[in-house]
Amino acid sequence: MLTLLINIKELLQIRETSIEKVSGEAMAVLPSIKNAFLLIENDTIIDFGPMENCPKINADKTIDASGKMVLPAWCDSHTHIVYAGNREQEFVDRINGLTYEEIANRGGGILNSAKKLNETSEEEIYHQSKKRLEEVIRQGTGAVEIKSGYGLTVDGELKMLRVIKRLAADYPITIKATFLGAHAYPLAYKENHAAYIDVIINEMLPKIAEEHLADYIDAFCETGYFSVEETERIMKAGQQYGLHAKIHVNQFTAINGIAACVKHNALSVDHLEIVTDEDIEVLKNSETIAVALPSCSYFISIPYTPARKMIAAGLPLALASDFNPGTSPSGNMNFVVATACIKMKMTPEEAINAATINGAYAMGISKTHGSITIGKKANLIITKPLNSFYELPYSFASNLIEQVIINGKVIV
Ligand code: NIG
Ligand code: FE
Repeated sequence: MLTLLINIKELLQIRETSIEKVSGEAMAVLPSIKNAFLLIENDTIIDFGPMENCPKINADKTIDASGKMVLPAWCDSHTHIVYAGNREQEFVDRINGLTYEEIANRGGGILNSAKKLNETSEEEIYHQSKKRLEEVIRQGTGAVEIKSGYGLTVDGELKMLRVIKRLAADYPITIKATFLGAHAYPLAYKENHAAYIDVIINEMLPKIAEEHLADYIDAFCETGYFSVEETERIMKAGQQYGLHAKIHVNQFTAINGIAACVKHNALSVDHLEIVTDEDIEVLKNSETIAVALPSCSYFISIPYTPARKMIAAGLPLALASDFNPGTSPSGNMNFVVATACIKMKMTPEEAINAATINGAYAMGISKTHGSITIGKKANLIITKPLNSFYELPYSFASNLIEQVIINGKVIV
């Protein structure tokens, strides 16, 4: 099956040779071809270039993209799409003056979602979660990482990971699963952290490994949640099962967690709303990528990740949605890209790099996703007719996506 896109006004994020990620100054460059074609065989990009080089072939399907932009589908490397119910009441409580921390201390927050999750059947969680997954695919997401972490019991964590596995089997987009048993301490373990970590390491992890339910391991390294030492125990245990770490860190406080993550060769460190100069220093010359989650900053009114400072230091930065019921009840990557431009002062080029190739790196799939490169998956966004791609973040609340192609097939 050959699909040919012709007359593309601008084909964005073209990379002749596959790159892993872009860092620092290179993030400002988004290579493109104006008036381009793109050829897909089955699920793979097999050719692209200027229209004058367009092969004269009889494709099975031809799409005329006159006036439109084509770019790689978003790679959302940090979400909690699988959950039960929602937390609208906490949203209103925050409007009325309570902080995220105060709500969590009253038994709300992550523990509120954990209670709901444990009371809800696997089937029902699947049905609630698949609606969110279908929504983000329509919004242009072509690969997504999904975390557990609202179970906090052996059964609850396994239930979440099985739902993620089922979503991955039922939907064409690439899904990576992350085990986040260390998201919060269940009430019963409030005074005995070591005992809960033992449950994670000795009961949850072996079962998860046996059923091949996770690709990565995560922990919420934060004051009042998992200490740096506790996070290190989790990372080490994960490594023994081949699970690379992706860690929630520096969301509210800087406690030197980033150095520990780099020491354990974490794939990503996520959030980083509060970042010290030392944190930036340790990230230099590491393979660990920082992931910013601007929808979370927006939704719970906390600082934005200091993108300019990090990019100036030569670091790579990825953008993700953090889709979850507490701090970002949206998985819309178009909003993420716009908010990164508007609030973090990233240029459109930087934000698109961060949400495509760097997002792919942050979920370990940059060999196959995140750029227009021969041999990569044909996961694409075709926009509505636009003046320029700057309109994507500029018209921040408009839906500018006309079609989404996943594995070479038109989905929307
Ligand atoms: O990424 N910070 C930790 N975890 C989630 C939010 C969890 C929740 O409130 O349900 C986050 O923001
Ligand atoms: Fe998160």
